[in-house]
Amino acid sequence: MASATDTLGRPLQDLRISLLDRCNFRCPYCMPEAQYTDDYQFLTRSARLNHAEILRIATIAVELGVSKLRITGGEPLLDKKVASLVASLAKLKGVDDLALTTNGVLLAPVARALADAGLHRVTISLDSLDEKVFAAMSGNRGVIRKVLEGIEAAEKAGLAPIKINVVVQRGVNEHTLLDTLEHFRGTGHIVRFIEFMDVGSRNSWSMEQVVPSKDILEMVNARWPVRAVDRNYAGEVASRYQFLDGKGELGFISSVTDPFCGACSRARLSADGTLYTCLFATDGTDLAGPLRSGASDAEIAALISNVWRRRADRYSEIRAPASTEKPLINKVEMYRMGG
Ligand code: GTP
Ligand code: 5AD
Ligand code: SF4
Ligand code: SF4
Repeated sequence: MASATDTLGRPLQDLRISLLDRCNFRCPYCMPEAQYTDDYQFLTRSARLNHAEILRIATIAVELGVSKLRITGGEPLLDKKVASLVASLAKLKGVDDLALTTNGVLLAPVARALADAGLHRVTISLDSLDEKVFAAMSGNRGVIRKVLEGIEAAEKAGLAPIKINVVVQRGVNEHTLLDTLEHFRGTGHIVRFIEFMDVGSRNSWSMEQVVPSKDILEMVNARWPVRAVDRNYAGEVASRYQFLDGKGELGFISSVTDPFCGACSRARLSADGTLYTCLFATDGTDLAGPLRSGASDAEIAALISNVWRRRADRYSEIRAPASTEKPLINKVEMYRMGG
C-alpha cells in the first residue's frame, strides 16, 4: 500500500499508542491532582480498545508506512497484559523501533518480560532526583528508588538506549537539573530536558514557567563542555549534544522555543480508539466505531490515509511567541491522547 504524505509533504512513520488514560502519578503539568481525584471517571474497559483492536490498527498503520511504534498512556504498565501486546506488535514486519514510555515505578518487575516479548527500548520520565522536588512533580505519588530500580532492571534486560525524560519547570526543578545529569553521565542513558508545554488546557501553562533549552545548555556547557551532534533520524524531536569528555550524550526537546513541526511524522492513537495527528489537537478521528461496526482493513486504511493526506498540523510553530495566530482552547489532554 502506498505510504501517505500530508499537505506539507510529511510521511506517516510513527504511531504512538496510548493503552489507557489512567496513571499512578498526578504530575501537576499533566494531571493536576485537584482535578483528577479518586472519583474521576477515566475510560472504562469497554470504552478502551482491546489488544486485538490495537493490533489490528497497528498492522494497518504499518502497511501504510509506519515503522516506529511507541506504547504510552497514561501509564502503560498499569495494563497488566502489556507484554503480550508487545509480543504481537514485535512480530509485525516493517517495525524497526518498538519503544515504551513509562514513569518507571512499575517497571522493575516487568522489564525482563517486556524485553523477552520483543520490546526494543524504554523511555523513563524522571523529573528530579531530589525527593521533595520529585514528590511535588509526581503529585506525591512517585518513589525515586523504585524508578531507579526500574531503570536498572531495564538496563539488565537490554532495553537500551534508555532515555530519561525530564520536564523542566521554572522555579520547580530548574535547580536540580545538573544533579540529574551528573547521576546519569557515563551510564549510557540519555537524559533529555523537555520544555514545559501547553498541552491540554488544565495545567495552567504560562510562558513564564518555561526555561528555554538554550539557557540549560549554557548551564550544562559551563560545567561539562558539550558539542552538538546531528539528529539520529529526520523528525527526531530531541536535539542532541555529546559531552566532550566522552561521558555520553544529552538531549533537548524544545517544542516551545524551537518547534520541530517541519518533519513531524507522528500520529497518536488514544485508548478510546481516536486517531490524532497533532499533540495539540482539539479533535481526532474515531477508528473504534468503524472497527466495531465491521469495517474492512482496506476501509480503515483508507480512513487513516485520508486523514493523514488532509493533515496540516504545525501547532508548535503557530504558537511560537512571534506568531499572530491565537492559541487553541479545548485541546485534548496529553494523558488521554498519549504523550
Ligand atoms: P525517540 O523515539 O527516542 O526519539 O523519542 P520520542 O521523543 O519520540 O519519545 P518520547 O515519548 O520520549 O517523547 C518525549 C517528549 O517529546 C514527549 O513526551 C513530548 O513531551 C515531546 N514530543 C514527542 N513528540 C512530540 C510532538 O510531535 N510534538 C511535540 N510538540 N512534542 C512532542
Ligand atoms: N510538557 C512537557 N512534557 C510533558 N510531559 C507530560 N506533560 C508534559 C507537558 N505539559 C512528558 C512526561 C513524559 C512524556 C510522555 O511527556 O513527563 O516524559
Ligand atoms: Fe502520569 Fe506521565 Fe502524566 Fe505524569 S506525565 S501524570 S506520569 S501520564
Ligand atoms: Fe507534530 Fe503537532 Fe508536535 Fe508540531 S506540535 S511536532 S505538528 S505533534
